[in-house]
Amino acid sequence: MSSKPILAEDLENEIHTKLIAKKIFAFETLSSTNDFAKRLAQNDDHDGTLVLANEQTKGRGRQGRHWYAPPNFGLWFSIILKPNQPAQKFGIVSLLAAVAVAKTIEQMTSLEPALKWPNDVFINSKKVSGVLIESQFSNNQPVSLILGFGLNVNQKQGDFPEEIRETATSLREQIKYEIDRVSLLINLLHNLEHLYFEFKEGNFNVIINSWKERCPFLGKDVSIKQSRGEIEGRFENLDEYGRMVLRLEKGEIKHLNAGEQTVIQGGEPCYS
Ligand code: BTN
Repeated sequence: MSSKPILAEDLENEIHTKLIAKKIFAFETLSSTNDFAKRLAQNDDHDGTLVLANEQTKGRGRQGRHWYAPPNFGLWFSIILKPNQPAQKFGIVSLLAAVAVAKTIEQMTSLEPALKWPNDVFINSKKVSGVLIESQFSNNQPVSLILGFGLNVNQKQGDFPEEIRETATSLREQIKYEIDRVSLLINLLHNLEHLYFEFKEGNFNVIINSWKERCPFLGKDVSIKQSRGEIEGRFENLDEYGRMVLRLEKGEIKHLNAGEQTVIQGGEPCYS
């Protein structure tokens, strides 16, 4: 099952979304779906275009890390969004992406995924998915968001490169059978659309609460790696912009934006 590439027509026949993936670009191989989507977004007004690759040769992760994306093993795709909400609210899109992945896993398996701020998805303390979000600006205003999803589906543990073998996992490793990537993707796109409509309608709390319900690190002590060093504190809450509310040891409260820092929760090492 894992050797079969996903084609655009596999999705077009089965998908019943109103906005997400109404336009589909599917490739056997790309360097990075985010890079392709960024070029596309400059001339594409459509809200929800999907760019999918069955393999990426230069997949990118957050903080400049590499994302390993071998042929036909996972879901490697980007969605171009043109959100109607103010840019300060874009942090919530980061959360909704992770909630969409977690919900899909819950619906299709008996697994209980855990979220790490802002949008990493873990199962049994190993990372199964991450989302790279990039914005595009025109006249200093963000005009589009590129949501790049990486979800490990049918790899066996030995398929991961040695440097992440201990910290990464796939759905197959967790449930011990292969999953049909087309059904998984279709479900994920439906969940994504549902949450994106909530975002467009300004129902931010629905998203924030769904995220919080799946985060075991809320209320716990965490370490945050920033460009200037590391800070520690209590992960108190998410604010109305999806930022992490961190209480430092002396009581000072900080509101952290995603993108600028890496969270090392519960002493877990970061995984790229
Ligand atoms: C992370 O660091 O956790 C985010 C990983 C995001 C990987 C996906 S795969 C599809 C899209 N294209 C890329 O180059 N990266 C994202």
